[in-house]
Amino acid sequence: MTDTMPLETDWSLDATAARRDRYYAASQRKFVPFAEPMVFRRGSMQYLWDAEDRQYIDLLGMNVCISVGHCHPRVVAAAQAQAAELTHCTTMFYHPTPAHLAEELAATMPSGQDWVVHFTNSGAEAIDLAMTMARTYTGNLDLLALRSAYHGPTAAAQSVTGISGWRHPGMPGHVAFVAEPNQYRGIFGPGTEPYLNEIEQTIATATTGRVAGILIESVQGYGGIHPMPPGYMSGAAERVREAGGLYIADEVQSGFGRTGDHMWGFEADGVVPDIAVMAKGIGNGFPLAAVVAKKQIAAPMAEKFLFHTYGANPTSCAAGRAVLQVIREDRVQENARVVGAALLERLRGIASRHQAIGDVRGTGLMLAIELVKDRKTKEPDPQATAAIFEACRGEGLILSKSGAFQSCLRMVPPMCLSLDDVDRVADGLEAACRAL
Ligand SMILES: Cc1ncc(COP(=O)(O)O)c(C=O)c1O
Repeated sequence: MTDTMPLETDWSLDATAARRDRYYAASQRKFVPFAEPMVFRRGSMQYLWDAEDRQYIDLLGMNVCISVGHCHPRVVAAAQAQAAELTHCTTMFYHPTPAHLAEELAATMPSGQDWVVHFTNSGAEAIDLAMTMARTYTGNLDLLALRSAYHGPTAAAQSVTGISGWRHPGMPGHVAFVAEPNQYRGIFGPGTEPYLNEIEQTIATATTGRVAGILIESVQGYGGIHPMPPGYMSGAAERVREAGGLYIADEVQSGFGRTGDHMWGFEADGVVPDIAVMAKGIGNGFPLAAVVAKKQIAAPMAEKFLFHTYGANPTSCAAGRAVLQVIREDRVQENARVVGAALLERLRGIASRHQAIGDVRGTGLMLAIELVKDRKTKEPDPQATAAIFEACRGEGLILSKSGAFQSCLRMVPPMCLSLDDVDRVADGLEAACRAL
């Protein structure tokens, strides 16, 4: 470190690429979507601009973090005001902003329970905490998770992630995986019952018979947008509770109204989770996550200390409060429902003209198309997926390749996407499919 190190930022793509290549660890360099890198300079609501000032529709929502819009003025103003007054206040000391947010989050949960909140910095930390909480409360070690689930990068969150490309050596054990109820290519075909039987069988054979819980994304996100079929979440909760365990809803992607019909994805099945995990959209880009649990389930954690340094950071929490307010006042959930339905309709139209699209699915603004080599065999086509993905960039659309085979194009934009945008997205996607 020299005294003369300049603070100006060099915006050129080549310089940024060179710095990343030289100074980023391999682990941080690896995850890049496009063949040619791109630099984003600014964002506003559902739009992004690159360093050359080209505009894009952000259908990835910066990995589903941008819930109500890039740089939403009310969220930015709330965070700026808080940052200027007191940027950080460690949770050991009292501050009203996180306390208000805890109350406001608890109010979004099903009535009839005393909900309590523990704020963390990231979704994976919240998943870790949910796992620890479930094990502490139940006294059982074994957890169930779904194949093709993604729950985060920490060692514990990896241990419940069912996609091998995200699993590294050194994960803790005591996790048994069950087949995900994928209605397009699941191993038991469409339906719910066989997948619930699978949970029973797995508890009976691959655990001690007593479990700490099950983690379920209400809509599998990175796994390729798989909404849980009717009866699955409630049936899974029932079976796991019979074995002494808890139902843990991972709402990191499916929460905050994104599914269009409900604030929380689990509400689609009328199930009340014991623990819900929230992140990403809660902060609209500010690092913030939370575990929301039934009070009695969180209570035994008081035996020991657990401290996330930035967990209840007031700047992020001020952003979180503004996000909840914008969701209510701007009728964001309804927009996700209406605009999502219009986009789904257009995607179905495109699929009817392009054999490469094997499936169109999703709910609200959590949508995906899946590319296959043959509609009958459903053989995944990651090459076609990558080609359409790259061509969409030329059309001003940023999508996401996802799914266990990288054969899905995921659309999870900021929930302010408009009906006019739907035309641009559908026309661009269709042009990309034609170019295939
Ligand atoms: C469903 C789900 N759970 C948990 C996580 C982990 O969140 P984070 O990346 O904030 O640690 C993610 C991140 O993509 C996710 O999609």
